[in-house]
Amino acid sequence: MRVFVADHPLITHKLTVLRDKNTPQPTFRMLIEELMTLLAYEATREVRVEPRAIETPVAPTTGVHLSTPLPLIVPILRAGLGMLDGMVRVLPTAEVGFLGMVRDEETLEPVTYAERLPDSLAGRQCFVLDPMLATGGSLAAAIKFLFDRGADDVTAICVLGTPEGIEAIRAAARDRRVTLVLGALDEGLNEQAYIVPGLGDAGDRLYGTVGH
Ligand code: PRP
Ligand code: URA
Repeated sequence: MRVFVADHPLITHKLTVLRDKNTPQPTFRMLIEELMTLLAYEATREVRVEPRAIETPVAPTTGVHLSTPLPLIVPILRAGLGMLDGMVRVLPTAEVGFLGMVRDEETLEPVTYAERLPDSLAGRQCFVLDPMLATGGSLAAAIKFLFDRGADDVTAICVLGTPEGIEAIRAAARDRRVTLVLGALDEGLNEQAYIVPGLGDAGDRLYGTVGH
């Protein structure tokens, strides 16, 4: 598994505002989207392309276009939905599938409550979006789900991650092709398995508190 942790002052600047508990909801939403767009640059470094012949007004030349099957973007509901527009801006022709997961706050186990994905993901390159990689349980389950459907390459993009989360994804990835792109690597988890220093509950800060 490959792990990439962003190291760019603009990303750190935006993350600092995002982490601040006084940042209002509209600003929080806007920043998650902007951060996604910045992380997308690294996350799509190995997006599959194939040659394409075109003619410029001056001369024929060969460029590239996205290979088929097109990449599949999979935001994990709820919080991953906040990253979707930022990713679609970079990959406008990609298809989008959905996975709904919630972490049981007692057991910390992920519960899958919704799924809207193609029946077969054979040969598909998938980009999973979830701002928070805490214990890693949710993302590990999502990655396993995609490989079980036939995906052969999964890139997960998270705004914040922990060392514990990375190890959980490494174990879930085994020898499969998984790339993890993080906006920052935080210290770890507190007693409630929240990321420290983190940013709190990403879903609640994006969409309000609904309870579990
Ligand atoms: C959050 C987050 C991840 C998960 C991370 O979702 O968006 O999906 O927790 O925790 P883990 O790494 O320990 O599994 P949550 O369960 O709060 O649901 P929500 O997005 O609907 O708020
Ligand atoms: N889910 C969140 O939204 N935040 C955390 O810190 C951990 C899990």
